[in-house]
Amino acid sequence: MPLERLDPGAELAAFARDVAAGMRASPKRLPCCYFYDAAGSELFEEICALPEYYLTRAEREILTDRAATLAAAFRGPVTLMELGSGSAAKTRILIEAFLRRGPLQYVPVDISRSALDGCAAALRRDYADLDIRALAGRYEDGLRHLRTAAGGQKVVIWLGSSVGNLERAEAAQFLHRVRDAVAPRGRLLIGIDLRKSRAILERAYDDAQGVTARFNRNILVRINRELGGHFDPQTFAHRAAYDEDGGRIEMYLVSTRPQQVRIDHLGLDVQFSAGESIHTEDSYKYSPAEIRLLAKRAGFRLEQTWLDNARRFSLNVLAP
Ligand code: AVJ
Repeated sequence: MPLERLDPGAELAAFARDVAAGMRASPKRLPCCYFYDAAGSELFEEICALPEYYLTRAEREILTDRAATLAAAFRGPVTLMELGSGSAAKTRILIEAFLRRGPLQYVPVDISRSALDGCAAALRRDYADLDIRALAGRYEDGLRHLRTAAGGQKVVIWLGSSVGNLERAEAAQFLHRVRDAVAPRGRLLIGIDLRKSRAILERAYDDAQGVTARFNRNILVRINRELGGHFDPQTFAHRAAYDEDGGRIEMYLVSTRPQQVRIDHLGLDVQFSAGESIHTEDSYKYSPAEIRLLAKRAGFRLEQTWLDNARRFSLNVLAP
């Protein structure tokens, strides 16, 4: 049973509030954290296995090469907290490396109850020596727990370039809170996707099989189910565009025709013109210089940066 920090009533109220605000805004938007219901978390796992989505494989390659070196840098018991653990597939590489050197407590934090339950059950089955304290909640809930947690050296891991969902200034602010939670002796291990050519990036976010398109449209399916929406997801096209100056992939759902969509629980009728878009996600990419700047702004020292062989992705160790 996970430590429960999610109040289903409050979660639904927040979803309703954010959808109402986003549908009244101009341009329209929806926060990307709402992608991850049970279906969305499964679709994201599918994305991670796509040939175009190099991020997961590149990060796994670095973890495989560096996990032993990383684990060897710690003394005594370790508390490993993972932000947005999902299925924790890649984390197994780290868990195994840490377990080889001593006692380990693993604290996965995720807003998807289904993903968290599945992950914790599978890890319990496979690692008898691992102490697992799953936490169903938001990142902030995890950090609050960590600040007051007793026990060993604190290691926060934030993989998959999830930091890319935050604007650069927000990212620095959030990492500063992570810094305060792991200080004085802990570390942050963070996977960050690198800036690269438009062609590679746009393919990674608009795959040939249309899995990312389904992932994007799933947020409309969720509005239909949880808020009494009447979206026809097929009337919204998936679009992924790289803004080179900003260094970010932007995802949109584009209405293919003029339409009015009722959302019953919000008492709202939303008007769309043909070609009007809903902004659903930003995914920021970083240059090595931008990674150094991010660490500095967050009050961290950038202790280590490892790249995969093709130099597409970075894994970074940050020290308070
Ligand atoms: C989980 C936020 C890292 O931005 O690459 C994948 C989400 N969106 N394909 C990313 C995502 C479309 C992913 N993050």
